[in-house]
Amino acid sequence: MSTSSDVTERLKGILGSAGVMTDWADQEPYAMDWRKLFPGKPACVVRPSSTEQVAQIVQICHEAGVAVVPQGGNTGLAGGAVPDSSGTQVLLSLNRMAAIRNVDPIGMTIEAEAGCILKVAQDAASSAGRLLPISLAAEGSATIGGVVAANAGGVNVLRYGMTRNLVLGLEVVLPDGTIANGLRRLRKDNAGYDWKQLFIGSEGTLGIVTAAVLRLLPRPKHSVTALLSVPDPDAALRLLELAQDELGDQVTAFELISRTSLGLVARHAGLKPPIAEGEWFVLIEAASSLAGLREAAETMLGSAFEHVIALDGVIAESGAQAAQLWALREHVTESEAREGKSVKHDVSVPLTSVPCFLAEAGEALAAGAPGTRVNAFGHLGDGNIHYNVLVDAGHDANVINRIVHDVVAAYGGSISAEHGIGQYRVGELARYRSPVEMDITRKLKRALDPEGLLNPGKVLSA
Ligand code: FAD
Ligand code: MLT
Ligand code: ZN
Repeated sequence: MSTSSDVTERLKGILGSAGVMTDWADQEPYAMDWRKLFPGKPACVVRPSSTEQVAQIVQICHEAGVAVVPQGGNTGLAGGAVPDSSGTQVLLSLNRMAAIRNVDPIGMTIEAEAGCILKVAQDAASSAGRLLPISLAAEGSATIGGVVAANAGGVNVLRYGMTRNLVLGLEVVLPDGTIANGLRRLRKDNAGYDWKQLFIGSEGTLGIVTAAVLRLLPRPKHSVTALLSVPDPDAALRLLELAQDELGDQVTAFELISRTSLGLVARHAGLKPPIAEGEWFVLIEAASSLAGLREAAETMLGSAFEHVIALDGVIAESGAQAAQLWALREHVTESEAREGKSVKHDVSVPLTSVPCFLAEAGEALAAGAPGTRVNAFGHLGDGNIHYNVLVDAGHDANVINRIVHDVVAAYGGSISAEHGIGQYRVGELARYRSPVEMDITRKLKRALDPEGLLNPGKVLSA
């Protein structure tokens, strides 16, 4: 087996010295995850500019038995995109492969390279009168490859589904350097196994996504955004039911925000909600190409106030005001990070169980981890709550994980609704998924990456 320094020399042969970073000062921005939980040290950072270069890099590493860690925008919240601290792994950044290859407004597709920033792809779709509905607070840095590899969720899943629902075609470099080109733009394609599904959400452990074809939708002409305070999470669910009864599938986002979340945003981002204090808030958005949406939304909200499902609220009067309401929601994660240490839980439970989950997890934490504070918010419309626990140095993250995830398990929920496993939840996955499911997972990994060289230690232990 070659050493990682031999490999570095061979990689320079493909990319030139400038394309292979060996100095720590150049590597540092790539070495640490967004949450600063997993400091790594790569052998080198490589930045290929084509699929062929990715394939050559991976082939060289495969021959030498050197591990490769793919990275997009490095906004992942589970530590999946950073190398370990051994100084032997090659970090492969896709950030130079950022082209949008094609936007087809009639076929309603966009084809982009893996390193294309999500916001850039959204804007390209919008310029063509179409909508790329994947939307999350990190969209200014997250990449198409990262979003696909993570099967990202975000705020529009309620209407448009997870990233998986929008992927029509993929190009992937396999762990031995072979290129699998499935960049088809087809709406219907049942020709054999749909192999691309394996790579969506695989967090870079089965292959490296180099390009994707994503489905676009008509861009709605009208939208309504409202922030409401609600008496409790149960009322928030009744509001969701009412909104879906009255507005049907025009409801695109239904986000729950706690008072603690808004307190953090006020303290660290200086943003305040335009409505009276309450314990729980809902940010709701609906969109349609047909006229009459605002009237229907106002009628629905009138009914919500009448039935005391909502206590106070404001409907945005302009796009700028809608953006201000969204800013309150989008700043929660960053404000939480500024507050100090947190133990994040990205959980989902069946929708109707959310209020009981919140109550029981709160009670269990108060008993088992006194002194912690809960920052709960998230995509209520999907049953996905970010149940983040703010802690001091004395609190044990493992104890807190166990308390919260045991309640999740009791409700038949998932310990990762959208952020994935990365290295942050490897132990938790093994604990909460059944032996049979873990066996399938290990068999898939062995089938595609028998040497275990692609992103080792992520999803499964190395
Ligand atoms: P990275 O962080 O670089 O990588 C993520 C994973 O994918 C890693 O395992 C990495 O190895 C792998 N990977 C990256 N690129 C490739 C590739 N080309 N081929 C193969 N594997 C690859 N996530 C949500 O789902 N919903 C949210 O609402 C949401 N909100 C967020 C808000 C904030 C403020 C932040 C910081 C993060 C948020 N995230 C959210 C998490 C994150 O933005 C998403 O997971 C996003 O999809 C990651 O994209 P990225 O390009 O940064 O990927
Ligand atoms: C979000 O929805 O803002 C992120 O996925 C959540 C988080 O920070 O836990
Ligand atoms: Zn989220």
